[in-house]
Amino acid sequence: MPTLGVNIDHIATIRQARRTVEPDPVAAAVLVELAGADGITVHLREDRRHIQDRDVEMLRRTVRGHLNLEMAATQVMVDFALDVRPDYVTLVPERREEVTTEGGLDVGGQIASVGLAVEQLQSAGIAVSLFVDPDTAQLQASARTGAKFVELHTGRYAEAGGEQAQRSELAQLAAACDEAQALGLRVNAGHGLTYWNVAPVARLSGIEELNIGHSIIARAVLVGLERAVREMKQAMIAG
Ligand code: PXP
Repeated sequence: MPTLGVNIDHIATIRQARRTVEPDPVAAAVLVELAGADGITVHLREDRRHIQDRDVEMLRRTVRGHLNLEMAATQVMVDFALDVRPDYVTLVPERREEVTTEGGLDVGGQIASVGLAVEQLQSAGIAVSLFVDPDTAQLQASARTGAKFVELHTGRYAEAGGEQAQRSELAQLAAACDEAQALGLRVNAGHGLTYWNVAPVARLSGIEELNIGHSIIARAVLVGLERAVREMKQAMIAG
């Protein structure tokens, strides 16, 4: 079974909605690890809409499992990663106007810049994973950069309408997983995975880690809400 990396960006999104100090992603990471997660994933975006530099720096000092930093393949971000030294870096495409990372990285279309980022990070001992669609050309380009890992984008599988379409997307993920391994790449996967669609992906042989964020944080809000309201009533009664 793959390990679980939990993406805690949404905790920071709630904090940034008020530009306040709570909820703190560093506190969330402690709870996430206590519950059994193997790693913590955060995406430091160019616009700093959720995770802040301070979060990554503090998580580096507090996370006990592995810290996976998602970021764009820019020199500014590479320099930041070389400074903070996460356990690994996942290079993702980034557009300011997108709601979340929408598609995989076009490694083939920017092989020189991605290759340079991979080289700088891996020569400093930071393994690099490339977030790509389950597509032969992207996997071949990823192998050419020398990256140790790819993270297969599971969004098309997650959004497939109907059983037939989902089965076909799952087959593509399975084939991409085999292809990546044949090219010498290690394989992670993620995006759009939920409590309802995760099992078939977790069963694919060769996937080392699943990165899951939205579904877990969405559930946490609901399962925690009742207790939070009760505690506020208690605070009022105590007053
Ligand atoms: N993997 C990557 C590279 C991502 O960018 C994201 C979303 O930030 C995830 C996994 C997690 O996706 P989700 O929040 O849909 O579980």
